[in-house]
Amino acid sequence: MIRTTNLRKIYRMGNVEVKALDGVDLTIGKGEFVGIMGPSGSGKSTLLHLLGLLDLQTTGDIWLDSIDVDRLTDYEKTMFRLYKLGYVFQDYALVPELTVAENVCLPAMLRSDRKEEEYRADTVKILKQIGLSDRSSHLPRELSGGEQQRVAIARAIVNKPDILFADEPCANLDTENSSVVLDLFDEINHELKQTIIMVSHEDWHSKYFHRIIRLRDGKIVEDSG
Ligand SMILES: Nc1ncnc2c1ncn2[C@@H]1O[C@H](COP(=O)(O)OP(=O)(O)O)[C@@H](O)[C@H]1O
Ligand SMILES: [Mg+2]
Repeated sequence: MIRTTNLRKIYRMGNVEVKALDGVDLTIGKGEFVGIMGPSGSGKSTLLHLLGLLDLQTTGDIWLDSIDVDRLTDYEKTMFRLYKLGYVFQDYALVPELTVAENVCLPAMLRSDRKEEEYRADTVKILKQIGLSDRSSHLPRELSGGEQQRVAIARAIVNKPDILFADEPCANLDTENSSVVLDLFDEINHELKQTIIMVSHEDWHSKYFHRIIRLRDGKIVEDSG
């Protein structure tokens, strides 16, 4: 469902060229839980942003669901993101003025095909699943970092995206909270057959991934899948 061929991303700053991705070929199937690993600066975030349609490659192709994403207009890409993709970032990116439940509902409210009673019910269900039912009317700042990240994950899955992207979602969490978040991803992958692509540079996370794609200097140096 995800395929790239000879994917390259070059950042140009004045006369300096940085090859952030230097010819990446990969195929990721539905339901896989993939870890993108590698040292800082190896191109992990760049790859995730390209696959998540958050940035443009310099050359090479990306197919999502057999669609050559280069052929999509900006509007179609926005709709593709809203209907098919979900995102979790390391800084949670919750809206501070909205309650936990409102934050989780947000991506569903943006969709014309979602009925309010339906996504409200989904939100109640997801908050129960992540163990935060009693916090639904709290504001994000009243929650711990680990709890906020669980809310961000709930928000990312409320629309049942085909692909869930997470860029170092545990970067600001201690080991215990990181385990809770990783267990949650594992559960979502298992129960919902959710495709998950997660970036990490923590070696101990590797036991959670079913497949590890390791990058160095913008190239795949190892792929366990
Ligand atoms: N917006 C940007 N402008 C210039 N260089 C960038 C930009 N984003 C990333 N880079 C460079 O591209 C390389 C890969 O970055 P990145 O994908 O963020 O790596 P990682 O997530 O593995 O730490 C690094 O050398 C980084 O400095
Ligand atoms: Mg990064």
